[in-house]
Amino acid sequence: MTQLCRAIYISQAVGNAGSNLLSVAEILGVSERNNRRDRLTGVLLSHDGWFLQALEGSRTDIERLLTRLHKDPRHKNIRMLGFDPITERSFSDWSMGQILVTPRIAPLVSRQPLDALTAASAFALLVAAVAQAGAQS
Ligand SMILES: Cc1cc2nc3c(=O)[nH]c(=O)nc-3n(C[C@H](O)[C@H](O)[C@H](O)COP(=O)(O)O)c2cc1C
Repeated sequence: MTQLCRAIYISQAVGNAGSNLLSVAEILGVSERNNRRDRLTGVLLSHDGWFLQALEGSRTDIERLLTRLHKDPRHKNIRMLGFDPITERSFSDWSMGQILVTPRIAPLVSRQPLDALTAASAFALLVAAVAQAGAQS
């Protein structure tokens, strides 16, 4: 296995891919199946036309998924915020957990424009959101 890493990216949802519950559920269903197979973990937040996703696993498996993600027409303008080695996973409970933007989470998310996020602030936001509300798996 290659180095354990965490990648964080933000992208723009195309059409209603981010806001339609069924289409998000479809993404999560496939993600859970594939990520379990590839020993990837992470969380996905969709909000206001944006996706913010953290992926943890071996560099090779994350790169393979990123290749698929870049071809996926349900989102565009993928901007990598970070792709760095880590010593342990922070989202190990979820093959892909959904962070629901509940009223408790909303202030965290709207505190900063999502397109101004850095790797550190995005990671902090996801960790805080999981701590407040948990992620749905
Ligand atoms: C925002 C977003 C996040 C996604 N996250 C994952 C993921 O974590 N794992 C995954 O396998 N596919 C994910 N997908 C789906 C992939 O782009 C791709 O459709 C899928 O991996 C293809 O799997 P298949 O070859 O088994 O059909 C995501 C798609 C979108 C739009």
